[in-house]
Amino acid sequence: MSSISGPAPAGSALILGVGAFTQALLRTLRDDGARTSAYLTRDYAHHGPRLEGPCHDHRDLPNPCDLIRRERPDVIIPMSIEWALKPWTEEFLALKPPLLCPTGEALRLERERDFARQLCGQYGVPFPRSWFAANRAEAEAIVRREGCAFVLKNPLCSPTSPIHTIVCETPGDTLAWLPQVDDSEGIFLQEYLGRREAGHIALVSDGEVHSLVTNQEYKRAFDGNLGIVAGAPLGGLVERDPEDRHGLARALLLPLQPWFREVGYHGPVQVTGILHEGRWHVLEYNVRLGVTSGPMIARMLSNPFATFAACARNAPLAPRWQEGRRFGCNLTLAGYGYPYTQLTGPRVPLFVEGQPTCDIWWQEVAARADGQLEATGHRIADVAAIADTLDGAITEAYSNIRRLRSLGSYHRTDVGQSLWPPGQA
Ligand SMILES: Nc1ncnc2c1ncn2[C@@H]1O[C@H](COP(=O)(O)OP(=O)(O)O)[C@@H](O)[C@H]1O
Ligand SMILES: [Mg+2]
Repeated sequence: MSSISGPAPAGSALILGVGAFTQALLRTLRDDGARTSAYLTRDYAHHGPRLEGPCHDHRDLPNPCDLIRRERPDVIIPMSIEWALKPWTEEFLALKPPLLCPTGEALRLERERDFARQLCGQYGVPFPRSWFAANRAEAEAIVRREGCAFVLKNPLCSPTSPIHTIVCETPGDTLAWLPQVDDSEGIFLQEYLGRREAGHIALVSDGEVHSLVTNQEYKRAFDGNLGIVAGAPLGGLVERDPEDRHGLARALLLPLQPWFREVGYHGPVQVTGILHEGRWHVLEYNVRLGVTSGPMIARMLSNPFATFAACARNAPLAPRWQEGRRFGCNLTLAGYGYPYTQLTGPRVPLFVEGQPTCDIWWQEVAARADGQLEATGHRIADVAAIADTLDGAITEAYSNIRRLRSLGSYHRTDVGQSLWPPGQA
């Protein structure tokens, strides 16, 4: 049972972000008894968070440090690692904020791809063969020398990176894409290892790794895993997995435990892995709650607020699970132009038919003065259902996404039919 009926507020949470993630954490943690507010870090996707509680727009409040001094939140949950690159970062860290994200040396696990590669080498975790190229000419030379396909990535991760991951499947694809990429920060080349991908999410606190879920993201834009790898996934599955049934934590997270302890790592860790020649390899690590998996995890735990707040303080954790909530399915309603974000359309009306029976989190949506909702961008909404069975979660998510109508929008109709169980193509 959630502590929604508990007498006193559990404490307070501040969410840093916009859109579906922010709306979802505001509501799920409020449902768990916490007081919640948000600092809206970007200029779009404010409607959903504003439905849930007090929000501070970064344009009115360019620096959130006074807000944090005043409200003294028990946990601060960021949607991305952009907090680390702000003019206020130093002042923020000096407050020793209860941030649900590692800082300092530990943050490098996500921020610097070549650091993650070296760390994996040091602790015996399989990582695809990868090179940092300072520029396109160096990258081309590596592709010609190695004669294999490479995925092109930003060497330094941030939402504003000049390169977004481009998955090339042959050496010819790689050579054809290289002239297109902005090499101003260099290029991280990672050998393409196929499509047998899966993820695992844990919380690290007090030196221990607590597995939460194994997950899958449907990153290709269209049914049948056709089209490009979109900027954010079109669908996702999570399975409650504290026992690490699928073995991803054993292969890709637990070997790093000495390093987690050495650097005082505390916060979420999500690994994206790929099964290649019978072994899981690391594609990347992320160090925050995932944009679509985070809200589902918050709905599956019976004590999400206490768990996240303890993790932010590097304290021992005791996550508890709600009965009957073993699987989650997230579906994204994409708008006109997605996944080709160069294309933009007009604002079009958005209709919801009937009464939703699962969570619907708004992304790029606004309300007109007359109350009519409008789609304002490429990702309109995330629909997230939790159930005791995988089929139950998928069926419920689909019955709800069909309630949403907006001209030119689409969603994948085949989530769960491939890439699951983990290790399948
Ligand atoms: N080496 C690789 N081999 C095969 N597919 C890859 C590889 N690297 C990335 N991908 C695909 O691209 C997606 C995004 O890559 P990732 O490293 O997670 O970067 P980001 O999430 O920062 O874009 C992965 O989830 C996977 O589908
Ligand atoms: Mg990724």
